Amino acid sequence: MKPLVVLTHALPAEWLTSLAGEARLVSGPADASGLAPALEPYLGEAEGLLSMLTIPVRSELLARMPRLRVVSNMAAGVDNVDVAECTRRGIPVGNTPDVLTDATADLTLALLLAAARNLPQAMADARAGHWKTWLPAGWLGVDLQDAVLGILGMGRIGRAVAARARGFGLRIIFYDTGVADGRKMPPPDTEAVSFEELLTRSDFLSLHCPLTEKTRGLIDELALRKMKPTAILINMARGPVVVTDALQRALQEGWIAGAALDVTDPEPLPPAHPLYSLPNCIILPHIGSATVGTRRKMAQIACENLLAGLHGKPLPYCVNPQVYST
Ligand code: GLV
Ligand code: GLV
Repeated sequence: MKPLVVLTHALPAEWLTSLAGEARLVSGPADASGLAPALEPYLGEAEGLLSMLTIPVRSELLARMPRLRVVSNMAAGVDNVDVAECTRRGIPVGNTPDVLTDATADLTLALLLAAARNLPQAMADARAGHWKTWLPAGWLGVDLQDAVLGILGMGRIGRAVAARARGFGLRIIFYDTGVADGRKMPPPDTEAVSFEELLTRSDFLSLHCPLTEKTRGLIDELALRKMKPTAILINMARGPVVVTDALQRALQEGWIAGAALDVTDPEPLPPAHPLYSLPNCIILPHIGSATVGTRRKMAQIACENLLAGLHGKPLPYCVNPQVYST
């Protein structure tokens, strides 16, 4: 019999063609915010799990999946997965980096530009009839040419953001522990700085690090108070890298000028949350990789990882390759 695979979220059938004939699939709903109760009867038998970032894949779930041989997370980030526990159980974990780099970097620039030029406010004013005439000193934003873009985390996405930002004349500084200790090369035309300098010199500070125990809460009150009062914070990484309450006060009390968030803590940010009412805060519903082409490619790679795992082969994108040497 073909192995059973649990898909935590329903995906368009044409994204899953490579699985046809290879596995029996059971799926949760497309909008699953947690593991769908209807999937529970299948956990004991499932040999593969195709998960999304809203599903915690931790010991409670893993303990209920004794036959599991592969976790394929359809995301670049794997903070929803207890990778150490998977490794301990001998289960490879796959992710889908690379294919979402361009889409995520594009949206970063969209947020940066929208915040720099106050697009949400200008659009709302036009629609509300406040556009009475051309205002010489109305709806003023800030220039990008020669402004300083600080990038926290110079991985694939940070580099793609830097490449785009150079085209706008931004000067790029960055902080990345991998570059600081020599494991990674700095990209061209960028300046590596300390975390402290990143905070104090950035006109735009853009977050592109993974969520780990080291980065959780990194942008806290102390960090926000060190930033320029004219600075704009962009979070395309993970919500909990920023302390939400501290950010709210920073925006209300003018420690920084604005924020543009594709990710929040919590997610979703409840509709009544005060951040939505702040004119200097742009909030998107975690859509960094949300283009037709990119999501299709992410699904394709998630399927390739899944199939490799089911066939006992190394995953094309594996976040815990040490699983193969233990
Ligand atoms: C999205 O946030 C991802 O990690 O792919
Ligand atoms: C900004 O502070 C810079 O020196 O680049």
